[in-house]
Amino acid sequence: MKTKFPIERFAHIETPFYYYDVELLKKTIDTVQKEAAKHNGFNVHYAIKANFNPRLLAIIAASGLGADCVSGGEVAAALKAGVSPGHIVFAGVGKTDKEIALSLDAGIFCFNVESIPEIDAIDTLAAERGVVAQVAIRVNPNIGAHTHANITTGLAENKFGVNYEQLDEVINTIESKNNVKLIGLHFHIGSQILVMDDFIALCGRVNELQTMLHETRGLVLPHINVGGGLGIRYDAPDKYNVPDFALYFDTYAQHLKLFPGQQVHFELGRSIVAQCGSLITRATYIKSGTCKKFIIVDAGMNDLVRPALYSAYHRIENLSSHKADEVYDVVGPICESSDVFCKDRKIPQTHRGDIMAIRSAGAYGEAMAFGYNCRPLPKSVLSTEFE
Ligand code: LLP
Repeated sequence: MKTKFPIERFAHIETPFYYYDVELLKKTIDTVQKEAAKHNGFNVHYAIKANFNPRLLAIIAASGLGADCVSGGEVAAALKAGVSPGHIVFAGVGKTDKEIALSLDAGIFCFNVESIPEIDAIDTLAAERGVVAQVAIRVNPNIGAHTHANITTGLAENKFGVNYEQLDEVINTIESKNNVKLIGLHFHIGSQILVMDDFIALCGRVNELQTMLHETRGLVLPHINVGGGLGIRYDAPDKYNVPDFALYFDTYAQHLKLFPGQQVHFELGRSIVAQCGSLITRATYIKSGTCKKFIIVDAGMNDLVRPALYSAYHRIENLSSHKADEVYDVVGPICESSDVFCKDRKIPQTHRGDIMAIRSAGAYGEAMAFGYNCRPLPKSVLSTEFE
């Protein structure tokens, strides 16, 4: 299923904007649910940080997926979209009292906790409300995933999670409190991971830790949350439009050693929404340098920051031209030399006014947009608007 762009409709819409192929989103959600359901006790939470567009969230919530949130704003967005509080997990190193209070009042499923002071704060706020908060400890598995340094999160010297040496003290703290209850362990090793060996390594760590907790403390926790991180194929968005969820879940099913009745939780963001979204932009000018040709488009790094921030690759297609390829740098209008979408890329000969699609932009695209240079935040258009 190739994303078909309604180019004649685009001609009447002001660019830049995010275009979402709803059919592909639904197909992706269906696949993730079907593949997870093949394994007993596998639960999927959509990581809202990847894209919190309310219209997409409504579709995701209606499908029955849970939500993984990292701020009070995300918890509120999940609730508003209709995610059941019992399917919301809340992670993050810096949860404020206000965010914790909102989540307690909503009755969310679980807080993924990352430090002792945070446990104190949750316990105090839960006591004030006469409730018991369920918590999972985010453990730092010390695994360096094969991905960009800025998006690997499982290494020992990281702001995230609790290290092995601190684990006993953290468990003792939770057990000493009346208003927090330890229900699980949480892990996350990074994002855009395509090498299953990284997830296998995580399974190994989880197994070790579970054995250790069982042997030393007789502790078996009902919930194991392995985070997210499944990558997508930025190089071939049409060929690999739905990620290989079967392989991903099979990998965990094969390598995770569970105690009877344990539930496994996944927090998938990118793999659910990336391929359904494209940033649609127009060529404002074609400019010739001394040795280079630039396509200056009307989208900038403020609309899609991934190339500037991580040197990320996104396929760029000229939807208006089928001429022979030329070599271009595609750049935005922002006053920063890092406002570059790609360099020395073969793209069909492009003219002022041509409409272009920057592909695989559904995850961490619109969600990370900002207003630098007094630019408005990008709008969104859903394929269903044209039906
Ligand atoms: N769970 C936790 C604890 C996370 O930190 C993340 C992502 C996820 C789940 C979802 O990971 P995913 O399935 O989407 O890989 N802005 C970067 C990605 C940052 C990822 C942050 N954490 C990018 O544009 O590549």
